[in-house]
Amino acid sequence: MNGFKKISAEEISKNTFELIGKDWMLVTAKKPDGTVNTMTASWGGLGVMWNKNAAFVVLRPQRYTKEFVDSSDSFSLTFFADDYKKQLSYLGSVSGRDEDKITKAGLTVAENDGVPYFEESKMVLICKKMFVQEMTEDSFILKSIPKEMYSAGDYHTLYIAEIESVWVK
Ligand SMILES: Cc1cc2nc3c(=O)[nH]c(=O)nc-3n(C[C@H](O)[C@H](O)[C@H](O)COP(=O)(O)O)c2cc1C
Repeated sequence: MNGFKKISAEEISKNTFELIGKDWMLVTAKKPDGTVNTMTASWGGLGVMWNKNAAFVVLRPQRYTKEFVDSSDSFSLTFFADDYKKQLSYLGSVSGRDEDKITKAGLTVAENDGVPYFEESKMVLICKKMFVQEMTEDSFILKSIPKEMYSAGDYHTLYIAEIESVWVK
């Protein structure tokens, strides 16, 4: 983690709603064959679960990144300075199935104990999966959500992961 220093999760100072909802993050994982994929996410959260500092992310079934997250025990969440917004938009609109989007975005993959992250990021969360569950229509109390958000039936899968380490520049 060249250029990064380790902090505790409690030391993350930026407001989570801004960090995830407004600034966005990249969800990145590696398959056993060594290939890496990433995608932009603006839904998710940071908090506490089962007495552990935890992150949750939601991935739709058609995301190529989902294959990578499913085939690995861990993934990273990376956060960037404002001037990377263009790259994050691109990584959130094109699939790694169709383009070498990490190279095209000019990002450099590095690894922390085999978990991929980006050298250009300003904060890295190394996350270890604890829980995975596919959402189903009958789980929604607020029935307008499946109607508005999942007209194609492409329900998100929820991942809750332990935040194993946090790195900042
Ligand atoms: C701002 C933004 C936020 C996004 N948030 C999510 C998300 O939380 N979950 C999700 O499944 N897709 C989300 N997406 C869509 C994926 O990033 C997008 O479909 C991406 O191209 C998937 O790439 P992949 O097929 O290489 O995994 C978001 C896209 C953008 C632009």
